[in-house]
Amino acid sequence: MFIKATTENEIAPGGMKAFTLNGREIVLCNSGGTFYAVERACGHAAARLERGALTGWVLTCPLHYAQFDIRSGEALSGPAPKAPDSKHPDPADPSLKTRNLRTWPVRLEAGCIYVDLP
Ligand code: FES
Repeated sequence: MFIKATTENEIAPGGMKAFTLNGREIVLCNSGGTFYAVERACGHAAARLERGALTGWVLTCPLHYAQFDIRSGEALSGPAPKAPDSKHPDPADPSLKTRNLRTWPVRLEAGCIYVDLP
């Protein structure tokens, strides 16, 4: 069932915005005028992805820089390794696998963005 999320002029090209729809936290991404919906929590350690960077179809997580293809949700690269002098756990520890993001179909109609959420 398609649910109205917002209007297209609320998200500039290259921008992202988080919404809660039907109890799901999603991020709408505007890649050159085409909109995509991905889950909000990073597939590595659940950082909020709307705080990351969007370059074309590639969304980079703000926390450890894992990258995802917003068209499919596929994890393209895992987190960056920690700096040598960091006291924090290594985000590239293989026990912390990076999973793909869930995605949902998006429809644009009369300037409004709808997301197909079951
Ligand atoms: S939480 Fe996103 S890369 Fe670690």
